[in-house]
Amino acid sequence: MSKVNVPEILIGDEKLKEFLSKGIKRTEEFLEIESASPYNPLTEITQHLLLAGGKRIRPVLVFLSAQFGKPDIDRLAKVAAAIEFIHVATLYHDDVMDEALLRRGVESANAKFGNTNAILAGDFLFSRASAIAAELGPHVVTTLADTLSVLCEGQIREAMGAGDSDPIKHYLEVLKQKTGSLIETSAALGAYLSGADDVVTAALSNYAQNIGLAFQISDDILDLKGDSAKSGKMIGKDLLEGIHTLPVLSALSLDKEESLKQLLVEVRKNPELIQTIIDKVTNLGGFDVATLHLESLIDQAMTSLDSVPKGSARDALVQFAEWLTKRNS
Ligand code: IPE
Ligand code: IPE
Ligand code: MG
Ligand code: MG
Repeated sequence: MSKVNVPEILIGDEKLKEFLSKGIKRTEEFLEIESASPYNPLTEITQHLLLAGGKRIRPVLVFLSAQFGKPDIDRLAKVAAAIEFIHVATLYHDDVMDEALLRRGVESANAKFGNTNAILAGDFLFSRASAIAAELGPHVVTTLADTLSVLCEGQIREAMGAGDSDPIKHYLEVLKQKTGSLIETSAALGAYLSGADDVVTAALSNYAQNIGLAFQISDDILDLKGDSAKSGKMIGKDLLEGIHTLPVLSALSLDKEESLKQLLVEVRKNPELIQTIIDKVTNLGGFDVATLHLESLIDQAMTSLDSVPKGSARDALVQFAEWLTKRNS
């Protein structure tokens, strides 16, 4: 599909480079064919975000994690498409829940077509993912079903809030569930479908879980400090929704005057306070704490790779993790 913006990782090995580019191309073909409905208006809504682009990081992880066994490009592209469908379906639903107006640089589906249509398009994508997964056998079906359950648990826990529990602990658990789960599964199924051994599969899953957490932390930093033109999403959205992410939670814990707490209540009615809050979080060191946490997760991800055979695929995974720490979109 058109504007795909796959992370730029330099792969020296021509064979791996070609495999990855063929794999993504094949995945895009599946995405296009499988997202079409005989009822054209549904196709238009369903393909709205697929055509708008995206980074396809989950498919990339599938193909890279498949390099430690015997990779079969067709089966891998199928699982990559199923995973991307699940991801995009959760974006359709997430944007309804978060009342987001912008996604992948275009109007969100809920803004363009209304909540009902956005929810149904998400459901349709879940059904297409299940149909593809069924072709790959019960292990893939069960793994994807369990992953989606965990993801939903994360989304609902985020919506429910931390309650009486420690807010940072709650935040990190939510991240593991809502974002880490599908990223970990991308690596685990890439390894599984190519018959990698158990030690390597566990190491890749561990790597992916850590970069998944780091990825969401960087997303949360970008929500406050990013550039809307690059991320394709609105800045300060989490604050308006009353969702407090790691930079804000860290700043809150360091704010002796407790003025940030009050601002976080007021911003929900007065978006002009977004910049004041960002400045305060910066001055209190909230972004520094979040960045340190992100870097420590990347270090843990790199350590997991010690159990993975050396070579161009492992080098690409290292680069992928490095790209994550520097990304701006
Ligand atoms: C967005 O995911 C939602 C999160 C889990 C942070 P991506 O950043 O992978 O979104 P696309 O696919 O590139 O649009
Ligand atoms: C998205 O989380 C996670 C899922 C869709 C499961 P966010 O709500 O934090 O992500 P963005 O900022 O909308 O992409
Ligand atoms: Mg959101
Ligand atoms: Mg959300």
